[in-house]
Amino acid sequence: MTPDQLLASITPQARNEPDSGIVKAAMYGFGRPDVIPLWTGEGNLPTPEVFSNAAIDSLRRGETFYTWQRGIPELREALARYHEAQFGRSFSFENFFVTSGGMQSIQTAIQMIAGEGDEIILPTPAWPNYAGPLRIQGSVPVEVPMEFRNGRWTLDLDRLFDAVTPRTRAIALNSPSNPIGWTATRDELVAVRNFCRKHGLWIFGDEVYSRFYYGARGETRAPSFLDICDDEERLLLANTFSKNWAMTGWRVGWLQAPRALAPEIERIIQYNTSGTPAFLQKGCVAALDLGEEFIRAQVAKARANRDLVVKLLGNQSRLRFEVPEGAFYLFFGIEGMTNSTATTLRIIDEAKVGFAPGATFGPGGEGHLRMCYLRDPAKIEDALGQFTDWLKTAQIN
Ligand SMILES: Cc1ncc(COP(=O)(O)O)c(C=O)c1O
Repeated sequence: MTPDQLLASITPQARNEPDSGIVKAAMYGFGRPDVIPLWTGEGNLPTPEVFSNAAIDSLRRGETFYTWQRGIPELREALARYHEAQFGRSFSFENFFVTSGGMQSIQTAIQMIAGEGDEIILPTPAWPNYAGPLRIQGSVPVEVPMEFRNGRWTLDLDRLFDAVTPRTRAIALNSPSNPIGWTATRDELVAVRNFCRKHGLWIFGDEVYSRFYYGARGETRAPSFLDICDDEERLLLANTFSKNWAMTGWRVGWLQAPRALAPEIERIIQYNTSGTPAFLQKGCVAALDLGEEFIRAQVAKARANRDLVVKLLGNQSRLRFEVPEGAFYLFFGIEGMTNSTATTLRIIDEAKVGFAPGATFGPGGEGHLRMCYLRDPAKIEDALGQFTDWLKTAQIN
């Protein structure tokens, strides 16, 4: 059969879903040693050896069999302990479900709450990996653009709530946000919680960057739905080992959900991945139990790099951005740019720097580029030197 015939015989959703612009940029520039990559959301350090050793020891012990669909009890208990230390209240291991990455935790959540034609409300700019999987399964992401006003991103709660229809099943909120670093205040979280309670909607939260928070009062985490919600209400929270513990390549995350849904979640995990490898989970137990110092060092580095990036780009008259309050991205607008995807590819070729195109983050994203700054500061200086030199003469459209 021809490629066209084969394409014609898969579902329109699978055929028509656009690429993630982040992956598109990365694939364009991958394997080019002269390009400084700042496209994906990860740091430059490998996983600390002590976490890896726990996984290697487990492999050596022969822990290579099928395992618990909900995650090994040891890891679920370590997750409860970690949350207790973070939130100063008790957590039950029964609310934690181990998944193959934060991405599968998102998949599990949306497969559980959004059927064909059901809508999930999503403030944008947002990471493309909510809208994409929703569309692929026949559900509808209802994107509500945030506004960039007086140099700040603002979430208009009335506009968000006005987007609700009889088909709405959930409000999704990623705070701190990838890509804009915007972080919801406790009052905003309470308003979303109250609205969802009143209207029988799910809260679908993504707090994978909660430790990467640069609040003025030296807080060690961002405001969270876990501060204000019951464990047994309509709250699904996606999380991951990827960011805090430098484990992006491990593909392990977790979903925090009401324990009443355990059999349903277990079934979805069974029919997607049939569980996360036990030896990887052993490495994650070590990360939770031994990783606090590492996290603090990562966050301190991210904060210092954020300040560096703001200093290096702050005097560029063609750029505009808000100093991010959380996560580890700078999302900056370039005057006159209307095609961020083409510009991203050009910058890879001409300035040898890899950003991600703003358009991939949905309405409100075009006109911007995203850079990840959880990198070696010397590389950031080189990259931004190359980029600002390029910017001096580049004609951009
Ligand atoms: C907002 C957000 N949520 C979830 C994830 C998922 O992380 P992973 O699938 O790598 O564990 C990411 C990764 O970039 C993210 O930015």
